Amino acid sequence: MLDFIRDPSIYNLVRGPFVWIAFLVFIGMSIYKVMRLYLMAKSEKVVLPLIDGKSSARSVLHWVIPFGSRNWRMRWPITITTFVFHICLVFTPIFLLSHSVLWHESWGISWWSLPEGVADIMTLLVMISCVVFLLRRIFAPEVRFVTTGDDLLILAISFLPFLTGFLAYHQWLLPHKTMVILHMLFGQIMLIAIPFTRLAHMFYFFMTRAFMGSQMQKIWYGKDW
Ligand code: HEM
Ligand code: HEM
Repeated sequence: MLDFIRDPSIYNLVRGPFVWIAFLVFIGMSIYKVMRLYLMAKSEKVVLPLIDGKSSARSVLHWVIPFGSRNWRMRWPITITTFVFHICLVFTPIFLLSHSVLWHESWGISWWSLPEGVADIMTLLVMISCVVFLLRRIFAPEVRFVTTGDDLLILAISFLPFLTGFLAYHQWLLPHKTMVILHMLFGQIMLIAIPFTRLAHMFYFFMTRAFMGSQMQKIWYGKDW
């Protein structure tokens, strides 16, 4: 059924112009969204004057360190899952040998790559974490209560590039070329979705913490961690 995907012209499209579009939309729209939030904050007289570097840095630091905040310590299983998930999610695609080879082919640049077995394990960890997040969204009443379709969508968007990358690497299920093309498409969907969906928390996380941290420390003389 998916045979048409293997067509060389489709491969060239997905490996060429689509990659450009995905990266340009990801970078361009992410800058736009962050700038827009900054300008909105600027138009509110009380937001920017409140934010100070030291309070922001303290808040961010406590939240990016595993178990650094009380909230992280109280929910240790999900804290471990969240940290494992994010570390593997960010570092695997950047330091993946297969990706490195593509950068080298296209631009002549290369950098250190993860051993293939390690990349494989990190890929599996991302997929397992997504399943844990999904189960939590279905079975934990306090999370289920606030779950919408968007939450499931961002889980699927995060999961599929890893699943298809893994299947392509092992040459399982579909002909290799078909799976690689599917993988590249899902990778591109993920990049494009980041600025437009809740995945934009990748940037907003730091802005929210800067505001919350400054507000708590300067007005309430408390901590947000
Ligand atoms: C944007 C365009 C992308 C292209 C052109 C691309 C290309 C590739 C290629 C050619 C492979 C190797 C498949 C093989 O060994 O036969 C691969 C593997 C993989 N890619 Fe991508 N990819 C892209 C985006 C992404 C993204 C956004 C992610 C995740 C965030 C990702 C995660 C992976 C993973 C996890 C593997 C397999 C790792 C393993 O099990 O060894 N890729 N990719
Ligand atoms: C690099 C900067 C990032 C930071 C600081 C960050 C931070 C966070 C935090 C604090 C949570 C909440 C965890 C919890 O409720 O326990 C979260 C959840 C999540 N993040 Fe990220 N994130 C980042 C990047 C990304 C990226 C690039 C993706 C995928 C493209 C992603 C996908 C997710 C998903 C799917 C969840 C939700 C899990 C769920 O509750 O269902 N994150 N992130």
